[in-house]
Amino acid sequence: MKALLATEKPFAKTAVEGIRKIFEAAGIETVLLEKYSGAGELTAAVANADALIVRSDKVTKEVIAAAKNLKVVVRAGAGYDNLDLAACTAKNIVAMNTPGQNSNAVAELALGMMVFMARNLFTPGTGAELKGKKAGIHAYGNVGRLVAKLAQGFGMEVYAFDPFVSKDAMEKDGVKAASSAEELYSTCHYVSLHIPATEQTKKSIGYSLLSKMPKGGCLVNTARKEVIHEEELAKALEERPDLKYITDVAADSHAALSAKFGTRVFATPKKMGAETAEANINAGLAAASQIVAFLKTGDKRFQVNK
Ligand code: 3PG
Repeated sequence: MKALLATEKPFAKTAVEGIRKIFEAAGIETVLLEKYSGAGELTAAVANADALIVRSDKVTKEVIAAAKNLKVVVRAGAGYDNLDLAACTAKNIVAMNTPGQNSNAVAELALGMMVFMARNLFTPGTGAELKGKKAGIHAYGNVGRLVAKLAQGFGMEVYAFDPFVSKDAMEKDGVKAASSAEELYSTCHYVSLHIPATEQTKKSIGYSLLSKMPKGGCLVNTARKEVIHEEELAKALEERPDLKYITDVAADSHAALSAKFGTRVFATPKKMGAETAEANINAGLAAASQIVAFLKTGDKRFQVNK
């Protein structure tokens, strides 16, 4: 049996070695496709794979159609908006993610981004402190909870909004539950986004929320660029010279935003939330173990196309 590890953005070497070892012990051959340049390379490489591990690599219906032997695909990470789940289901392919495995890396980046913006992108001049400011966590999942904890460590007052998490669960963590997204945005100086990109959430963060933020408000996006309504973000930044936006992966309109709003807008050049050796190892090894468990015993924990 063959497992394809297809990562346009490669995992750290130690993670790749660990993945190989897990597969080797299970009698599975590892095939590596890294830094590839087009969908065609993935489509060709997947042809005879029984299992597939990807990161943000797009597993489209064309990729699935080309995969003659594929039984399981694991997104080594949290967000699986890059997998065509309907195409997987139609071919009886189990799709999984590895929730929580890279959360700490993303949470640390979110706090780092807050400091970076508060200190004027590390350029000379007087900045501000996070202590005493209000942090808003938009979606209280694995990453959101860790951001809350780190923000508390900085002395921030933490709020969260998540319709799927109880007020009690938030309050147990010392987090104040906001009853709506509007309340969260109108209360918090820093809002950290942790919602997934779904048909319901795409373009959902726009003018009506951003324009409500307190003076000096900053939106921190380590989630997905697709959840932002970019035209409305531009409108809010235009009307409110105090607002700021920092994101892990540029908006489609980043060049225009950056030209217009200068240092009030910052984007990482390449998505780096989960780019730590620790996160690569956690997510990569979990993905390989999940594949082995599924192929050997039919274990479908973490399946996302049920
Ligand atoms: C995730 O959803 O787990 C993160 O966005 C990580 O994405 P990456 O594996 O492409 O770095």
